Formats: sequence, C-alpha cells, structure tokens
Amino acid sequence: NDAREAALNSAQKKSATKGKSSSKKSDKRCENDFIFGKLIGEGSFSSVYLAKDIQTQQEYAAKVVPKLLVQKEKKVASVMREKEIMNLLNMHENTTAPFFVRLAFAFQSDVNLYFILSYCKHKEFLGLIQQVGNFDHESARFYTGEIVRALEHLHALNIVHRDLKPENILLDENMHIKISDFGSARILEKVENDGIGVLRASSFVGTAQYVSPEVLHEKQVCLASDLWSLGCIIYQIVSGLPPFRAKSEYMIFKSIQNLKYEFPQGFFDDAKDMVEQLLVLDSMCRLGAGDIPGRYSSLREHPFLASLDLDTLYTITPPTIM
Ligand code: ADE
Repeated sequence: NDAREAALNSAQKKSATKGKSSSKKSDKRCENDFIFGKLIGEGSFSSVYLAKDIQTQQEYAAKVVPKLLVQKEKKVASVMREKEIMNLLNMHENTTAPFFVRLAFAFQSDVNLYFILSYCKHKEFLGLIQQVGNFDHESARFYTGEIVRALEHLHALNIVHRDLKPENILLDENMHIKISDFGSARILEKVENDGIGVLRASSFVGTAQYVSPEVLHEKQVCLASDLWSLGCIIYQIVSGLPPFRAKSEYMIFKSIQNLKYEFPQGFFDDAKDMVEQLLVLDSMCRLGAGDIPGRYSSLREHPFLASLDLDTLYTITPPTIM
C-alpha cells in the first residue's frame, strides 16, 4: 500500500510539473475550469456530478473521488487501473464502435481525483428496461448488436470488463449505448499455450446477478466472462428480469453454479437460442469464445443478429421501443 501511495503521489507531482511546462493550455483542465451542477450518480468511492466546461460550454459527467477515501478503502490500485484502461480505450477509438464513456480529462486537487467523462443524457440502460418492461424484437436485436460490437472492440484490446450489467451501460443523447465503469476491468496477459488471454482472479468482483461461474469460483477469468454477462443482459432485455434471481446473493450464486433458470412464455426463439449458447458453464464453450478476437463472427451470424450490420449501427437512429 505504501508503494501504491507513493505511486499516487509521484503521479500527482508528475502531472503538476507537466501542467507548468505545458504550452498546450487548451487541453489541460483543473477543477476551476468547470461549473459543477447536480449530483447524477453515486458509487462506493465516488460521486458523479453534471459539469460544464466553462471554456467550451461542453457538458460532462465529473466523477469525483476523495483521495483519503480511496486510500483508506485500499482502492488506489483499482482507481489507477480504471484510468489506465480508459486511456487505452481513448488511444484506440474506433468510429464503428464509439460505445464507451470517454475519459476527456483527468486531474486532481489536494483532496480529490477528478475524472471528466462523456455525459450520457439518457442515463442507465437499466432505467430503460424498467420503464418499458421488456423490449420488442427489433429493439432487443438492435441493443444486443450494439453491446456485441462494443465487446468486439473491448476484447480486441484484450480488456475484460468483468462487471457488465444494465447499470453500467449508459445511453447518450441519441439513445446509443456507452459502456461505463471500468473499475473491475482487467487487461489480460497473453497465455502461451492457447493464445487466449486469461487471468487468475483474486476475489469476487462484479454483481451477483450477472457474474459468470468462473469469476465466482475464483478460477481463470477470460474475455468470455463478459459473454456470460451478455447472455444475462439479453435475457433481461427480452423478458424484463435477469435470469438468475433469488432472495439472497448466496441463492443467486447457487442458481448460477447449477445453471438453474427458466425462459418465460413468449421469449423470442432466436434470442432464446443465443442466450442458451452464452449461458454455458464452460467459458470456452460459450458462443463466440472460439472466434478471432475483435470479430464475434458466431454472434454476428447467429439468426438473432444476422440481419444487422454491426459496423453501421452507430450511424442509424435506434428503433423506438414498442
Ligand atoms: N452517471 C454516472 N456516470 C454518468 C455519465 N457518464 N453520464 C451520465 N450519468 C452518469
């Protein structure tokens, strides 16, 4: 932890030095450059405020993380990792997959870390699901397509999100998705024998209802852990509720381990087939797990998605949910 604190302080000094020597004033920001508005979100270690850049009038979501709190809660490494992953995503922007909350600026004051993020006007995807109950076939297919395209891009960079759920999928002003919250994400190491990135997890991360069996068992986490969560999300989009539900977290974990879930009447057949092929206990046997990273051909060619062009989704107006 001392090492972590030292790293944090060193990063702080470095950024202060950079600030002084930088001639490009326009891309540097500090807390006084923003007007902070209403509280729009709260996490365990952060508060998110609507913020306006005084210089450009651009609206952002400002995630404010009190430094003392992250140190006390031993989350320094996790916060630094989140920033590193968002920077990596910034470096590899892809116009056919602009489905991620962007880190526009990062700076700090004596007491807080500030992450200035793209503002997603229409908030959480979960809110939309709760509002409409369940999606019609076209809308379910469209949003599944956007999530799959986002995962292709993320996984091509060898990043596993590990906490993909409708609360972490936000909606922008045009109702396109933006995946957020990379606090649990990891960049996977390449493994010699099969070339597929895996990582040993040290403890349970994620949210009970969407967590994959391998994350639960503290086994190797792989890119396909997000494919499990995708299966849970498709189920929820189509039926209104997540597949694994129970009174306690313990009972949810039991249902996941035993693959105990049921499809309600009227669940779209093609979506059902895709969910069944994603909610597979053996991570390597999930639909898409054998595909070349960056292109989930098995998902693209599955009857549920086959009529969509995943590369042009961002250019079209999302369907109105019926
Ligand atoms: N709440 C948390 N992050 C947000 C964002 N980027 N936009 C809107 N609301 C949020």
